[in-house]
Amino acid sequence: MGEVFLTRRIEFAASHRYDNLKFSAEENRRIFGKCNNPHGHGHNYTLEVTVAGEPDPLTGMVLDLKELKEILEREVMQRMDHRHLNYEVPELSGKIPTCENVALVIWALLEPKISKGKLHRVRLYESPDLFADCYRNAAAGPDAVKGQERRR
Ligand code: NI
Repeated sequence: MGEVFLTRRIEFAASHRYDNLKFSAEENRRIFGKCNNPHGHGHNYTLEVTVAGEPDPLTGMVLDLKELKEILEREVMQRMDHRHLNYEVPELSGKIPTCENVALVIWALLEPKISKGKLHRVRLYESPDLFADCYRNAAAGPDAVKGQERRR
């Protein structure tokens, strides 16, 4: 049997604001532009979670899809859907909630929960033309790689 990469996609909506307390108000505006607007703004995120493994000979499945759905519901939807990422997600506290950082947090939340197969990739779209990828990297943990960027 060979290895297969199985992907599940979910969507959620959340708001955020980019603001670093170490920068002055002017620096924040210059570095983050509109993303620094005081009251934040929202995105419709699309999350793709890819698990690698060999299909079980008895079920033909890499992992139990119902279980994966429950993990995504518990770890991502309940934490982030219709939330303000700056204030309501403790895992992001002290971090700028960029697509890259949110993807890394989602990786860290999901990785220990996938018991069958291995988490291979987390891809988080902030918009149709911007996404961040985290891949399994044996030595250093996941790397966040930024996709094409046009506009946040
Ligand atoms: Ni944004």
